[in-house]
Parts: sequence; C-alpha cells; structure tokens
Amino acid sequence: MCGIVGVLGDHEVAPILVEALKRLEYRGYDSAGIATVQNGALDRRRAVGKLVNLSDLLVHEPLPGKSGIGHTRWATHGGPSVANAHPHRTGRVAVVHNGIIENFRDLRDRLKGAVFESETDTETVAHLCESFLDDGMPPRMAAAETLKHLEGAFALAFLFEGEEDLIVAARKGSPLAIGHGDGEMFVGSDAIALSPMTNRITYLEEGDYAFVTRAGAEIFDAEGRRANRDLREISSKSAQIDKGGHRHFMVKEIFEQPTVLADCLTHYAPGDAVVIPEGSVDFSRTDRLILVACGTAHYACLVAKYWFEQLAGLPCDVDIASEFRYREPPVSEQAAALFVSQSGETADTLAALRYATGKAAHILSVVNVAESSIARESDLALPILAGVEVGVASTKAFLCQLGVLANLAILAARQKGRIDARREAELLHTLRSLPALINQSLALEDEIRRGTRALARAQTILFLGRGPMFPMALEGALKLKEISYIHAEGYASGELKHGPIALVDKTVPVVVLAPRDALFDKTISNMQEVMAREGRVWLVTDKPGAAAASDGVWKTLTMPQVDPIFAPLLYAVPAQLIAYHTALHKGTDVDQPRNLAKSVTVE
Ligand code: F6R
Repeated sequence: MCGIVGVLGDHEVAPILVEALKRLEYRGYDSAGIATVQNGALDRRRAVGKLVNLSDLLVHEPLPGKSGIGHTRWATHGGPSVANAHPHRTGRVAVVHNGIIENFRDLRDRLKGAVFESETDTETVAHLCESFLDDGMPPRMAAAETLKHLEGAFALAFLFEGEEDLIVAARKGSPLAIGHGDGEMFVGSDAIALSPMTNRITYLEEGDYAFVTRAGAEIFDAEGRRANRDLREISSKSAQIDKGGHRHFMVKEIFEQPTVLADCLTHYAPGDAVVIPEGSVDFSRTDRLILVACGTAHYACLVAKYWFEQLAGLPCDVDIASEFRYREPPVSEQAAALFVSQSGETADTLAALRYATGKAAHILSVVNVAESSIARESDLALPILAGVEVGVASTKAFLCQLGVLANLAILAARQKGRIDARREAELLHTLRSLPALINQSLALEDEIRRGTRALARAQTILFLGRGPMFPMALEGALKLKEISYIHAEGYASGELKHGPIALVDKTVPVVVLAPRDALFDKTISNMQEVMAREGRVWLVTDKPGAAAASDGVWKTLTMPQVDPIFAPLLYAVPAQLIAYHTALHKGTDVDQPRNLAKSVTVE
C-alpha cells in the first residue's frame, strides 16, 4: 500500500532508488517517482503505471544527485496520474508518504495561499512543512512541527532544498525501517527493500521520527524525547526475492508449498507433540476464541474454526477485521483473540487487535513478518515461516497459516483434555503427510492448464463446498477473481438452493470441492442439482469420490486421499492452480493484478 524509500549515498542514487522501489512494487504499482537534491536544488521524475515507466523516463531524463527519496503508489486520494504521483513537492520540500492523512482537508483549508497541484492528501504535508520554513524554522524543526499537525496513519520521508545530508523520516501507523551502510544511510518501508544495500536495520516505533544523515540516525519518540532503538542484522534468507526460473512469483510460491509447509510443521511439532517454542499459551481456561483477519487470511480463520470447535470443543467467532473493529463486540476476559495476517501490517487487523488488547486474556497472532506491527503488539506472535511472498495473491502464506492454526487447534485440544497423546501423535502424523500429498497434487498442473482454457471464457464461475471445504470454496473464488478478473463466488453447497442456483445455466462452470468425507453424499446431491440445470461441473475429489460421482460431470480432478479433517490444506492447491492457469489464458498480470496491493495499510 505504497512503498517509500530514501537514500543518502556516496554515489548517484537514482538507480539505487529504482532498485529499492522494485522490491517495494508489491505494495502498489499505480505510479512511481523519485526526487533528489543536487547542488542544493530539488528535482523529481514521476511516471504513471509500473516502475518500468519511471525507469524508461530516467533513461531520457536522468536525475543526478547523491541524496534522494522514492515512492511506488497504490492510489487512495486521487487517481493514478503524474500530478498525483509522489514525491510531492513545494518550493523547498519534497515528500513521499505511505498511509492516509485523515485531516488533510482541514489542513488544506488552513493553508491559505498555497497552490495545490494534486488531489492527494500528501501534498498537504509538503505545503504545511513549507509554511513552517516560511516562518523561519530550519528544516528539521519544520518537519517535526509538521508531524504534530497530522492525523491518520503515515510513514513519511522529507527531503529539503539545500540539504544534501538530511532525510527526515517518520512513522505512525505505517512501518518504516532505517538502514545503516558504511558512510551511507537508507530509509525504506521494509527491510527487504534495503537488502541489496544493507542488512543492518533499525525499525522506527509508533510515533517515532528520525533525522537521518550519512553519520547515522537521531531518533525521537512521539513526545520528542531522544529514543534508542535496536540495530538488528536481518537474515539474508528473508531478503531473497527472485522467480527461481518460474514465469511468475505466484507459481513459484505455489510450488514452494511442500517445502515451506514441511518447515512450518516441523517448527511447531518436531516430534509427537505440538511445541510452541517462543512462549506459551493456555487454552484450558479459555471459553471462546475470537479469530480476526481480512481476505484470504480470514478464510484461513474460517477453516480453523472447524478445527478448534471439532478437536478442542472451543467455541469460535470468526470476524472480518474491518467489521469487528467498528462493531465493538463484547470480548470477555476468558476469551483469547487471534489475529492472522501475512504482512502483519493490515490496518484493519491491527486496529482490531488494538480493540481487543486489554479485554481478552490472550492476544495471539499468526504472521509471516516477525518484525511487523501486529507481531510486536501481540502477547504471542506465531510465525508462519513461509518466506517472502511476492505474488499479490496469497498462496504459500495461506497454506502456512493453516499449518500453524492446525497445530494451535491440536494444542488447544490437548490443553482442554479432548485428545490424548496417541490422538495428538496421529493428528500430527496426518499433518506431516501433507507436504508429500501436496507435491503429488502439483502434478495435476498440466491437466488444469488444459482444462482452464474453457474456464477462461466464462463470465461467472461458482465454487461449492461443505464443512471445511466451504471456506475453501470462498478462497478458490477469491483467488480466481483477483487474478483473472472473472466474476466468481464461493458458496456453502447447502446454501445454493436458497438463491444462488438462479445463476446456474450451461454457461456457468461450477467447481465442486468434495473429498469423500462424511458430507460427501450431501455435496454430491447439490452437485446433481447444478447438473440438472445444465451447470458444467468441475469435480475436485479423491479416488473413491471420483469412482462414486464422476458420471456426467464436465471434468474430474482426482486428488490424493487424506484424512478429511486436514483436507483443506491439500485442496488449496487445485484452487490456486485453477486461478493461475485461468488467468494465464486470459493474459492478465498474475503477480500484480489491477487495483490490488500486497500490504493493505489503509482502512
Ligand atoms: C488475497 C490476499 C488478501 C490478503 C488480505 C490480508 O490473495 O492476499 O486477501 O489475504 O489483504 O492481508 P494480510 O494477510 O497481510 O493481513
């Protein structure tokens, strides 16, 4: 949701800024821009669309300078245009911003005489800072004064005319990292952006601002007091991002799933019992579990509800974070609240966590980014260990979220006395069989590639499932719509006849996710209802399921067999491959689908 970067270098910074922005492009790709200061003068280049357009512009109109800031945008206020692209600049200040300045209209009204060139909230920040310079404040003081007037969420970097050794960086609600080089300093939305330059990182905390010079960073807290923040070395593994020979990050990440899931499962259950390594959680006195997340992570929570309720007998409420935070539901002291977020920065999930803090007995999170705000504000943060996920559509992170949640559900079942050691070992054995089964299911790729040629021509595709396959139907539909732009909906099979069946005719493909479990016959009855109305069914099932129900279906995908309780982890794979290959046939931008961004730091 917008990426920002800043460099005080010892040679030309434009290529370094562009390289860092490339690593932040997952946060938004509506426009990009950089500004530098050279011989005291500020200048900038901006281009609409992907970063490559900015690179092309820089070939024809280079931007010299050893100090600079850059931005890749996911549009909030004002559409994607050059005028709305960052950096925003007034006479003496250039600013890049990630987040939303909520009081920007009030500030605009107060800035009499200022001429605005864009529709953005960010330009207000530059004008406000300029007004303090006009009042005679030096740049550092003007920036610090500006911050006092801003409401909302932001990560900001300021660059000033006449100041070749200064970037002012600030964080409130959106993450910001400072990178330490040798005689060079860096600022970035995350450490990965800075990884080609340095792995020595200081994370700003909520409300912090910093005066960054080539000599180091002076950091102040929200009250303006000098603050010491740790300098950490970030592992090079977390910084690796390449496609590894695959055509897209998404398919690389789909194929990484057996490995990352195996690592995740071993981390939480190295032997026959679940071990939570970095702390403890006690579900024995917990009377309710509240699971909160957005998008795909929310669907992981919906799957986990079946596990917590069936294995541990623990009642669960699952909520969408943007609803939970404003509904202000009662949260009892006996409840545990669990927040699931790949990025750990999703604004709504973070706000929901803050709402539950101080109310629930435990604040737990399941995250992929250990340094994220959600992780840092939890009593216990459980990493999913998926490695960097670059594809905007989540795949391996979803699977590893399920892996962690399954382990937690087993732990809850043990702590509540619902399973004995033998059953725990059995469940873990089943989970451990999954990476190999997922590997086998990846072999269906060719068949899926061929079959999806016809799916790519559909206007609407429905996904059906029952029990834990219902959230998988939701996930299958989300994955398909976000990368292929085909309208898709997921339904609980039993719900179809209460309305959605009106959509079904011979032009509507219906993907039915139905392992041969206790609910199989019921799902197949619903499938028959679809076929009776000429709906064209893709049945995703296992061998016994295929033998029992393939007659008359358009296509059957035969999956390996697995204990139904953990089948959602396996059935994620065909859902992902169906979305991926349908999108390829449609020729959409799989890794960076339109209108989306990977890390949603605005509400
Ligand atoms: C869809 C997808 C999104 C995210 C959602 C939450 O493929 O990736 O729906 O799951 O934006 O993001 P995180 O998990 O970072 O909180």
